[in-house]
Amino acid sequence: MEYTELARLSLEAREHAYVPYSGFAVGAALECGDGSIYQGCNIENAAYTPSNCAERTAFFKAVYDGKRQFTRIAVAGGKGGAAPDQYCAPCGVCRQVMMEFCDPETFEILLVKAEDDYQLLKLKDLLPYGFGPENLK
Ligand code: THU
Repeated sequence: MEYTELARLSLEAREHAYVPYSGFAVGAALECGDGSIYQGCNIENAAYTPSNCAERTAFFKAVYDGKRQFTRIAVAGGKGGAAPDQYCAPCGVCRQVMMEFCDPETFEILLVKAEDDYQLLKLKDLLPYGFGPENLK
C-alpha cells in the first residue's frame, strides 16, 4: 500500500473519534504483516482516565483478531472539525504498546497532516532504550 493511502485511512478513521471532552480528534491506520489494515479512533470517557487513544484502539482491534505482526501505523490528530494543523505524535502509553508488538528498528510511524503531508519516523526514534518483551527473555 502507498504511504498516501495509509495516511488517507488515518484521516478517515479520525472521523469516528468520540471526543466530547477534549474536542481533539485522532485517527490511526495500522498495517499488519499480512497487509491487512486496522483503523482506530480515540474514545473518551466522562471519567477521563478510561479514555483510549486512536493508536491503541487500532492495536487492540488487530490483536483481538489474532494479528501479531505489524509494519506501519499512520496517525492523524488535531482539533475536531478541521484538518490537522500539527504532526500529532503518539503518547507515551501508545509507544509502549507498540513496543510490545513491533520491532523498534523497523516499525514505521507516519505523523499525518494530510494525505500527501506526513513525517515518517521509526519506533526506535520515538522510544529510545525502550523496555519490551526481549528484556524478559
Ligand atoms: N490522543 C490520541 O488518541 N492519540 C495521540 O497520539 C495523542 C492523544 C487522544 C487522547 C485524548 O482523547 C485526546 O487525544 C487529547 O489528549
